[in-house]
Amino acid sequence: MKQQLETIRASALEALSQVASAEELEALRVRVLGKKGELTAVLKMMGGLSAEERPVMGQLANSVRAEIEQHLESRKAELKARMLEAKLKAEALDVTVPGTKPKQGHRHPMNIALDEVKDVFVGMGFDIVDGPEVELSDYNFTKLNTPEGHPARDHSDTFYLTEDDSVLLRTQTSPMQIRVMETRKPPIRIFAPGRVYRKDEVDATHSPMFHQMEGLVVDKGITMTDLKGCLEQMVKALYGADAVVRFRPHHFPFTEPSCEVDVQCFECHGAGCRTCKGEGWIELLGAGMVHPKVLAGCGIDPDEYSGFAFGVGLERMAMRRFAISDMRLIFENDVRFLEQF
Ligand code: PHE
Repeated sequence: MKQQLETIRASALEALSQVASAEELEALRVRVLGKKGELTAVLKMMGGLSAEERPVMGQLANSVRAEIEQHLESRKAELKARMLEAKLKAEALDVTVPGTKPKQGHRHPMNIALDEVKDVFVGMGFDIVDGPEVELSDYNFTKLNTPEGHPARDHSDTFYLTEDDSVLLRTQTSPMQIRVMETRKPPIRIFAPGRVYRKDEVDATHSPMFHQMEGLVVDKGITMTDLKGCLEQMVKALYGADAVVRFRPHHFPFTEPSCEVDVQCFECHGAGCRTCKGEGWIELLGAGMVHPKVLAGCGIDPDEYSGFAFGVGLERMAMRRFAISDMRLIFENDVRFLEQF
């Protein structure tokens, strides 16, 4: 029996030195010290010993158990330390490695230009309002003094959405004049940017979808000088204090009198160049005094109130602002283009 105990001790200690993981260690513990383990099996045979041998063997068995347990514990601690070390090594972090920069997004030039214009009008006390792109012909045309049969309603220019032509994609932001005058009482000062649609072929200066910004002021005693002052203020804020504007007579069905506003070419200062196509001036917007019929149609008494309105194209403005030569660049969203802003 003594021999057996010695063998168990020797083989257990030998096996312990080979153990490489916590699982192997536990398996070894069970094999040697477990309920059905080698040592337990030997102890079960103690009953067959004589009274003198029993305590001697008992003592020996206990010391073998104690020794194996002690080695198990120290081996366990050793393995734990080694695993921790391996883990730390695997997770090592080199804080001196240069970082990977996330790609930064850029604001779209149209948004930058729009915010600049919005700022100008918010600064003059205008409310920014929003309205539908799918619009009623009534609002896009009829209530804007553009009756049926008027050339502006032609199918070659307008995207109609219904058989009876009563619903369309708005061709201008001017229907916002009507929507606001029908729901608000003067004094009215609104600015309404948004998308508009016309059947234009795509080229360097045209797109079937583009943006306009509508301005409308209605109050007692509003005159053409208010219109001029307001638009001059806008042009100078956007193009600099030395920008020169001119007002030309024009015609729109919903304003009377009507005008178009040009800004003197900032490249050639009026001499004529490629940018202004030899004109010396660049067309900026359409405007006028709100037609009395339009005011009356919205329930505003034209004898008491008057107003002015204007409509500006945003693409042209952005193109001028950022020297963009082709409108298609604005809509194609090529990242190489957008990254420049
Ligand atoms: N809606 C007109 C256009 O698209 C512009 C305009 C707006 C003219 C307001 C006068 C008053 O050309």
